[in-house]
Amino acid sequence: MKEIKVGILGFGTVGAGVVEGIQKNGGLMAERTGIYPVVARIADLDIETDRGITVPAGVLTTDAMSVISDPEIDLVVELVGGTGVARTFTLEALKQGKPVITANKALLADHGDEIYKAARENNTGIYYEAAVGGGIPILRSQRAGLIGNRIESIYGILNGTCNYILTRMEREGLPFDTILTDAQELGYAETPPDLDIDGIDTAHKAVVLASMAYGAPVPMDACPTKGIRGLAASEIANAEEMGYRIKLLAIIKDNDGEVELSVEPTLVPREHMIASVSDSFNAVFVKGDIVDDTMYYGRGAGRLPTGSAVIGDIMEAAGDKLNNVGSPVSVTMMLQKDELQYCTAENIVKRCYIRLCLEDKPGAMAQVMTIFGAHNISIASVVQKERHKTGYAPVVILTQEARESEFAAAMREIAVLEVSCCEPVRMRLEDFE
Ligand code: HSE
Repeated sequence: MKEIKVGILGFGTVGAGVVEGIQKNGGLMAERTGIYPVVARIADLDIETDRGITVPAGVLTTDAMSVISDPEIDLVVELVGGTGVARTFTLEALKQGKPVITANKALLADHGDEIYKAARENNTGIYYEAAVGGGIPILRSQRAGLIGNRIESIYGILNGTCNYILTRMEREGLPFDTILTDAQELGYAETPPDLDIDGIDTAHKAVVLASMAYGAPVPMDACPTKGIRGLAASEIANAEEMGYRIKLLAIIKDNDGEVELSVEPTLVPREHMIASVSDSFNAVFVKGDIVDDTMYYGRGAGRLPTGSAVIGDIMEAAGDKLNNVGSPVSVTMMLQKDELQYCTAENIVKRCYIRLCLEDKPGAMAQVMTIFGAHNISIASVVQKERHKTGYAPVVILTQEARESEFAAAMREIAVLEVSCCEPVRMRLEDFE
């Protein structure tokens, strides 16, 4: 039996979950692997608050650097969060040749290039399963089970807060703001909730998934991002009437060697598996060229689910260290290429849901249809509702596939028509065909 001494930086929700998980199942892990993980040091600025966990005297400290430099510490777990000191601690541990385990998606999205390279230069590892999809072992699936596949596409529901809000809006027909307040009271949404509801948290995770799928760090500006802030309950009802649900999706595709990447509210067919992922659950739907369709589902956040992912990485990092693996596959997969090529609006082809408000007068619809025709956009279905008291009629259109550049141009033209009485709404529609 070999002991591996773990130093944890950050004793918040996830840090406490990691310690709880190791205290509960450390013996089981040792039986299975021959490696016994010992949480030897924990650093946090606040070492007074009761985390519901008892640790031996002398384990807690306020000095993170002393944990990193402690010659007894084999592995460093970064759970500080943010991109400031977390970056400093991570780079310092790697410089000292110590493997780092992190749950920090923002750190990897903003500084992944520097961090993966630092791991490679120092012949050590960075492990980050908990950064994407919480307790779902999606990155491990990508780099182990799916290693023989070219990844054709990935669709991810990666933010539990947004999925919870969308689910309740659909079930209860309540407005976005009401459910957001509930989500904050229940502790799902962060305060402020901007990173969640504006899609940034999903984008952080999407760039990590895309980097691993296609072999180079993906910058955040390669991922056009739109969240669910202000989404009207009526759009959800319209989608429902037409057989769709709205999900905030990370969409990652290999488009003939160019990467297509976005985060956006998307209509998905009600009968598709991803549409049934509800409440705060996450799911990732991956299509490989050999395996075909696969889906991974579970809790995307929370003390023990995220702790489970961190513990998985601790055990993998421990095994790699004892076997002198050096830079593991979690590093080499991110650094196969210097950079990737990305799709542009010219070569992204998709379907859309479009909702307009038109004056209810002869020729209004014809003007809109003329614009779609001029931009090679074919209409799959159109529903005009009875006009409101205001005199304006909502019109809901589902299109066939067309180029993003044509959609953007058509929407600009429609928005300034005299018969167009509100800001048009456009969302992507994915039928997975
Ligand atoms: N705030 C995230 C969510 C969890 O709601 O899923 C951490 O990424």
